Amino acid sequence: MFISKEVQPSATLKFSQKAREKVSKGEVIYSLGLGEPDFNPPLEIVESVYEAAKKGFNKYGNSMGLDSLRSHIAQKLQKENKILCEKDDICITFGAKQALVLALMAILHPGDEVINISPCYVSYVPQIKIAEPQAVIKNVDLCRKDFSLDFDAFEAAVTAKTKCIILNSPNNPSGKVFTRSEFDRVISLISDRGIYLISDEIYEYLNFGDCDTVSPGSYRDIADRVFTINGFSKSFGMTGWRIGYMTVPPDQRKNINTLVQHINTNVTSFIQKGLVGIYDIDRSFLSNYNLHLRKMAGYIAGELDTAGLKVVEPQGGLFCFVDVSAIGLKSDAFATALLEEQNVAVTPGIAFGDNWDDYVRISFAGKEEEIVSGIEGIKKFVL
Ligand SMILES: Cc1ncc(COP(=O)(O)O)c(C=O)c1O
Repeated sequence: MFISKEVQPSATLKFSQKAREKVSKGEVIYSLGLGEPDFNPPLEIVESVYEAAKKGFNKYGNSMGLDSLRSHIAQKLQKENKILCEKDDICITFGAKQALVLALMAILHPGDEVINISPCYVSYVPQIKIAEPQAVIKNVDLCRKDFSLDFDAFEAAVTAKTKCIILNSPNNPSGKVFTRSEFDRVISLISDRGIYLISDEIYEYLNFGDCDTVSPGSYRDIADRVFTINGFSKSFGMTGWRIGYMTVPPDQRKNINTLVQHINTNVTSFIQKGLVGIYDIDRSFLSNYNLHLRKMAGYIAGELDTAGLKVVEPQGGLFCFVDVSAIGLKSDAFATALLEEQNVAVTPGIAFGDNWDDYVRISFAGKEEEIVSGIEGIKKFVL
């Protein structure tokens, strides 16, 4: 297989590996690297998955997903996200990550252009190149002042060859939640041009600022060109279960169905069965977690600001993207030295886009004590 040079090992995983090596030598590491909520999946869901396995949901199933789970997801998307969809529009995947690459594989042809908002999730660029090595990636940077969308740059990037745009809100790594008026403008720029929109909404329920989460699939003008991608990893503490989903535009259903038949057969049967009803359970644990995230976002922004680093306070997601240019180290050197000297693991900004080598990403997904110790370490390192 031809693997393009953009497809490199994940930088987030590289640093967590280094951190694990230190832990194995008995050192205490303050891990602000990975975006993994530290709570467990709701017990009733764990029990319902167990029951499903006991009751025989252990066989092959429909490649697009279990009908009852697809119906449940379609109802959630109609009710909460105002997306007009039904069971047959949904495809269950191994995590949101797999939904992303399948969507790209389905639509991309050689020479197609993909507009990628940068900084972005570490897997977008490799996934585009895995899906279509000859796709052309047009990165459009967020504004540094507040991580809002730069519409001049965005407009300049759209051409007759643009096949799709990838949008992620709440955003990893910037913590930005795009506003409704930002979505209005994006959609007015791409509607009538046949451009697909891949909307990664994995952090939908981790939104603690003043901005509502908006689903572009709810805009009637472009609804039949949107892949709405979501999953359960981040909101329900089940990153290791590997289950997510997407809505599939009508003209891509055949392609996606063919891909999942040959790649997946089906997503784990008893997990799918056990998740039916997941959106109806008591979600107060999420309100509590959002309170924690909001507190940590404010705390990190305040502390690092006093240490002379520029921080845009995050409004959603699990990360703070911090400008460390004042220190005079590039992001990989900063993260490596910080881990060596203070045992604090963060992720270099270069992992999220070529123009972000002056930034590092700090995760506040974990426990308050660990975050406070990590931030203390960063302050000692920079002051
Ligand atoms: C923006 C974004 N999209 C998708 C994913 C992948 O989610 P999943 O675990 O459901 O595959 C992540 C995980 O970190 C992410 O940050």
